[in-house]
Amino acid sequence: VLGWIKQNRGLPPGPGGIPGLSGIKLMASDKIPTRTFRKLRKKYGDIFSIQVGTRLLVVLNGYDVIKDALVKRAEEFSDRPCSLANRMIVKGRGLLASSGEHWKQTRTFSLTALRELGFGKKSLETKVMEEVDVFLDVIGHQNGKAFDISPLAHSSVSNIICSIVFGQRFNHDDKDFKWLLSRIDVQGASPTSIVSTFPLLRFLPGDLFGINRFLKNFEHLRDYFQTLVELHKKVFDPNASQDLIDAFIKEQSKHDKDNPAFRYDNLDFIILHLFLAGTETTSTTIRWAIIYLLRNPDVQARMFKEIESVVGSSRAPIIADRPSLHYCDAVITEVLRIANIVPLSVPHGALKDIYFRGYRIPKNATILPNLDSILSDPDLFPNPEVFDPTRFLDKKGKFCGAEKVVAFSLGRRVCLGEALARMEMYLFLTSLVQRYEILPEDPDNLPSQEGIFGITYGPYPYKFRAVARV
Ligand code: HEM
Repeated sequence: VLGWIKQNRGLPPGPGGIPGLSGIKLMASDKIPTRTFRKLRKKYGDIFSIQVGTRLLVVLNGYDVIKDALVKRAEEFSDRPCSLANRMIVKGRGLLASSGEHWKQTRTFSLTALRELGFGKKSLETKVMEEVDVFLDVIGHQNGKAFDISPLAHSSVSNIICSIVFGQRFNHDDKDFKWLLSRIDVQGASPTSIVSTFPLLRFLPGDLFGINRFLKNFEHLRDYFQTLVELHKKVFDPNASQDLIDAFIKEQSKHDKDNPAFRYDNLDFIILHLFLAGTETTSTTIRWAIIYLLRNPDVQARMFKEIESVVGSSRAPIIADRPSLHYCDAVITEVLRIANIVPLSVPHGALKDIYFRGYRIPKNATILPNLDSILSDPDLFPNPEVFDPTRFLDKKGKFCGAEKVVAFSLGRRVCLGEALARMEMYLFLTSLVQRYEILPEDPDNLPSQEGIFGITYGPYPYKFRAVARV
């Protein structure tokens, strides 16, 4: 009893009940976990805790609290949880689940390599635009008939990661590419999986649900990545580094053999994490954007008008047009805010006791920065449930006020692919609206604004029509 009292001293408040079990019951009570968290925040305040089985979740809410933790106290709040799955399988390798010095070195290497490969530069824009061309052509082949954009959006966005990591893009019907995409179809992403129905179950210790499928897929992927790495090693030329694998080969020769950040098993996880974090996220946001355009034809019409007046119709929109496309920027920002596809961010973890705002967050607690609590805060975004891009325009119609749209999180762990994701969304969506009018399959039955939790918070499957503008 004394041990239990000591363990719980100073914890953030939260629902009581039978330790562990009540938390599991609570997690299974609503298929939209952010709804559960909104209720708990009203009752317990901006910082609360829930014991789920043997795992303690500490949920941070509101812009000030989350910024305080992830930015001002970044040294303590930038690690990942030491879950059983992380200890046994991932072993803290790669980008998404690593902590401490290993993560710092892996992240610095990845960011530097990605910048050299064109993040935020013209060379990457050219790669993305090649993919946009194929995307628009495939849409054109539907001849205005209703279709589901998911596989196309997924292939297009994955192909950009393939160009960056392997130095090659694939034809959409390439056998290897289809195989790769089917393996990256990560655990729990299917709408029928138990984790999709009760998303908070993924925080149970050991990640019991979906882990075996994930492991099997990962073994296959790892074999594939290793073959590609071996091929790269054979033709490696330090003066002609073309992709992320080349950059790793070049960098690892400068480091101590025992440095785990520059061993090839770390590269396998870096590649995997770029695919996992960089495919589903952007393609899901594109699918949400299309839903909001279908539901708000006036928004689509205003976007088209702006594109027509700034860019015209003889060439596609490019990044250099962006500063003049204020309304398009406002639409994309509003999609990022309202779609809120990673509403609980990626879990952070306490590697030692953290004393924060009068509470003790004990070592091994899982910390969830509840981004939904910011993106749907009525004080920051009045009527947050309404899709209204004009909230990001000033009186003169200039784009403004987007700094609290923290869809990519905050602080040192902020999304590594933010620059790429923003470039992709801008180029794909403005080109789509320029070339096609997008119309619902059934005007009396528009795709729903309510989504499902998989790996990300995504829309239910839907179809729409794209009619070429003449
Ligand atoms: C991490 C959002 C696209 C790569 C994250 C996090 C969020 C996020 C919320 C967690 C940050 C934290 O732990 O506090 C998004 C959204 C995207 C997107 C909304 C698209 C609209 C991408 C793309 C890439 C990418 C295209 C690939 C290049 C990563 C990586 C991490 C990450 C590697 C882990 C960073 C780390 O742990 O240090 N993302 N992301 N993301 N994202 Fe993204």
